[in-house]
Amino acid sequence: MEKLLIIDDNSDLRQQLKWGLGEDYTVLLAADVNEGIGLFKKNQPRVVILDLGLPPHVDTSVEGFRGLAELLELDPYVKVIMLTGNSERENALRAMQLGAYDFFPKPPVINEMLVVLRRAFYISTLEDQNRALQRKIEEKSNESGGMIGHCPEMLSLFSTIKKVAPSDVSIFITGENGTGKELVAKAIHEASLRKKGPFVPINCGAIPDNLLESELFGHEKGSFTGAHAQVQGKLQYADKGTLFLDEIGELPFNLQVKLLRFLQEGVIQRVGGRQDIPIDTRTVCATNVDIAKAIKEGQFREDLYYRSSVISINLPPLRERGDDILMLANYFLRVFNKEYQKKVRRFSSASIDFLKSYDWPGNVRELQNRVQRAILMSDAAALEPSDLGCKMELSALMEDTVPIISLREARDKVELEMISAAIDRQHGNVVRAAEELGVSRPTLYDLMKKHSLTPLSSTEKAVDQMP
Ligand SMILES: Nc1ncnc2c1ncn2[C@@H]1O[C@H](COP(=O)(O)OP(=O)(O)OP(=O)(O)O)[C@@H](O)[C@H]1O
Ligand SMILES: [Mg+2]
Repeated sequence: MEKLLIIDDNSDLRQQLKWGLGEDYTVLLAADVNEGIGLFKKNQPRVVILDLGLPPHVDTSVEGFRGLAELLELDPYVKVIMLTGNSERENALRAMQLGAYDFFPKPPVINEMLVVLRRAFYISTLEDQNRALQRKIEEKSNESGGMIGHCPEMLSLFSTIKKVAPSDVSIFITGENGTGKELVAKAIHEASLRKKGPFVPINCGAIPDNLLESELFGHEKGSFTGAHAQVQGKLQYADKGTLFLDEIGELPFNLQVKLLRFLQEGVIQRVGGRQDIPIDTRTVCATNVDIAKAIKEGQFREDLYYRSSVISINLPPLRERGDDILMLANYFLRVFNKEYQKKVRRFSSASIDFLKSYDWPGNVRELQNRVQRAILMSDAAALEPSDLGCKMELSALMEDTVPIISLREARDKVELEMISAAIDRQHGNVVRAAEELGVSRPTLYDLMKKHSLTPLSSTEKAVDQMP
């Protein structure tokens, strides 16, 4: 039989409950918080019935709240059902916010109580199973380079990584912003024979074109004005390791030729140098642009693409990963709870709905940012949609949505509203608006393009800032 702890100072009520519930549960009785905590530690029941008004403060809820806090401290997943008098509804609601499972008015009706209890035990069991599953998946994620995923696409991705990592074949990763391209590149490095060597990421989009060549290949002293000394290129740092060329689609055409030569012959020449420098490295490239289109439009060399994509890996967008969304959300919940020493335990059912139906233009990174921010700001036991930055005014949305619009149209509408509001708030500063929305700058630009939005022009900005 499951154990059930009852903490109440009224001995008649205790006996009545023991008598009524004793057939279904092993009932443990305590008359105050300290005694209750003692019994709880010894027996670890999954469900506790706790009176709000307990000695020495029978007329207030102080002891009840203290008991609740201590129980949750000992076991964050215990289901505590508060027993409350008629006038205590507000306190009962507050207790729920602090993590109580439910409340029950006095005097308790045994048959109703049995229903509430059965459900509490049932949910507790389900949650246990869920956590065990989540743990298993997270343990498994260590094998996949720290990546969480359980949908068919991700499982097949993990097995591809395992298969191709030990060889030196070049790998080309495509996927929207924030889908985990860099994480995949690292996982490949970690699963390869080069894992003891360096992993050298270079973001081709972040370095100005005129500096990129010398950054990648290095330069000789005096090769151009300002080249005061010989400098090693980043490519050379990747010797015996893995070179990760991020945003390869941004590589200027002339450097694409140079890179191709390096991939074919395994040697580089510094800018202004003639000596061939051999480099032993495995290359992984990534991009979020449509590379087929870039090739067709003549912006990306086809021969370079074939050379760098012996194996190509496409990362699915988060919105197509099914239950992985919740799995990742719970994973980040745990990570940030620990990091910020918070006790947020779950997502409310409304926020689960939001997580599942939202479009996630910024993919895993956006999810990570939203959960991080929510946990940092929240003091409640459960996260609500508003904590996750879901500011949509559903009612307002509904008003002018007759006849009924599709889910996608509704999403687009909310997306547009949120983006324009953020851009307004940040006075046209796209970088800050992107930060606020939890998406990368390129993602925001893409979204703005989709909705034909433009940031304020600089003159408008100036006017905006006038006193
Ligand atoms: N499957 C996953 N499991 C756990 N964390 C993930 C997963 N995928 C991505 N992340 C996390 O999400 C964030 C974004 O991932 P990453 O930087 O690899 O994406 P990206 O595709 O390179 O993004 P961008 O296109 O913006 O450069 C990182 O903090 C990463 O750790
Ligand atoms: Mg990246």
